[in-house]
Amino acid sequence: MKVGILGSGIVGQTLGSGFLKYGHQVKIGTGNPNKLNDWLDKAGTNASAGSFADAASFGEIIVLAVKGTAAVNVLEKADSKNLVDKTIIDATNPIAEIAPVNGVLQFFTNQNSSLMEELQKKHPQTNFVKAFSCVGSALMVNPDFGGIKPTMFIAGNNDDSKLQVKGILNTFGWEIEDMGKAEAARAIEPLCILWCIPGFRENRWMHAFKLLKNN
Ligand SMILES: NC(=O)c1ccc[n+]([C@@H]2O[C@H](COP(=O)([O-])OP(=O)(O)OC[C@H]3O[C@@H](n4cnc5c(N)ncnc54)[C@H](OP(=O)(O)O)[C@@H]3O)[C@@H](O)[C@H]2O)c1
Repeated sequence: MKVGILGSGIVGQTLGSGFLKYGHQVKIGTGNPNKLNDWLDKAGTNASAGSFADAASFGEIIVLAVKGTAAVNVLEKADSKNLVDKTIIDATNPIAEIAPVNGVLQFFTNQNSSLMEELQKKHPQTNFVKAFSCVGSALMVNPDFGGIKPTMFIAGNNDDSKLQVKGILNTFGWEIEDMGKAEAARAIEPLCILWCIPGFRENRWMHAFKLLKNN
């Protein structure tokens, strides 16, 4: 599969390396290709870098991994014609550019909205699936909790796209909870706030969520 990753930060690079590990081709899109020189040196021949539009046009499937405040703008740069009928795995969180309060991040969305819904409305011919947003980058690919699979919460309007993302999450070692349509991103995105609190307060960053069920 050809994977186009919009975002050159730790999430873009980590997921990029994860897709490469499982034999896919990866192009990371960025406004600053030089940032990726070290990653490219280690990533091998299936990896490349380009503009946001280059990565979007390359990808049969797209990963969105940019700063939440830049997501709308980056998708414009990627060019909506490169996104039509494609799945976008949306790892972003709507973190506001304001300091956390006692370890609690602040969002620029409210509880009855989400960043993914806003992106989905702007790109109705593209299928957004929220995933990877509620865990730190170090645990995104093959997280090791001594044989216990953590839960990745996903949501999105298109079932075929969610099936595609479920396959990827299975390969990356996750148990999956499909929370339904795009509105469920209103509940999934804030898990990032909860996930970050032990990090900001106690410098603990190596945890993940698990949904316990008795049915
Ligand atoms: N870090 C984590 O562990 C983690 C975990 C879960 C979810 N997330 C979410 O994943 C996303 C990516 O996080 P990250 O930590 O990898 O890096 P980040 O610093 O949040 O984002 C880096 C990316 O955002 C782009 N960007 C930043 N400001 C921009 C602007 N004004 N205009 C255009 N592009 C801009 C950068 O562009 P260039 O490539 O041009 O520099 C780069 O590609 C975020 O939404 C974050 O909340 C992060």
